[in-house]
Amino acid sequence: MEIFIGCDHAGFTLKEALGEVLASFGTVHDLGTKSEGRVDYPDFSKRVCESVLGTPESFGILICGTGIGMSIAANRFRGIRAALCNDAGFCAHFARAHNNANILCLGGRLVTPDVAMESVRVFFTTSFEQGRHAGRVTKIETCAFGENA
Ligand code: RB5
Repeated sequence: MEIFIGCDHAGFTLKEALGEVLASFGTVHDLGTKSEGRVDYPDFSKRVCESVLGTPESFGILICGTGIGMSIAANRFRGIRAALCNDAGFCAHFARAHNNANILCLGGRLVTPDVAMESVRVFFTTSFEQGRHAGRVTKIETCAFGENA
């Protein structure tokens, strides 16, 4: 599995802390930022989203201070379903099982590395349930950009 990860300065420490656990789930591509110097989170969201969209079966992880900015930015990309999961795995489970999320967003200033690692573990070990959820996800893909307005 290919995993693309990106962060801003507020997510840098957590990104570094996740390195080893992430590597146990697949090949990790670190798309930056690579220091605590101030950057703009949409730039790194874009990098990760474009990589996920261009790589079949891949997933992304985006980390900023709260995870909010990264999730807002990522969900502007058609085909990206970015889920903000700042708890210890509950949201990550349903993000995959019900929403078929392909990007996990985390708040570097909100979650400890242990809590984030649990979300990562759950995210990568939970499958999309399909069934009634498949039609709902299709509605997101078509309605979110006004095509069915
Ligand atoms: C950076 O200070 C902060 O605004 C950013 O990391 C993020 O939390 C935005 O949503």
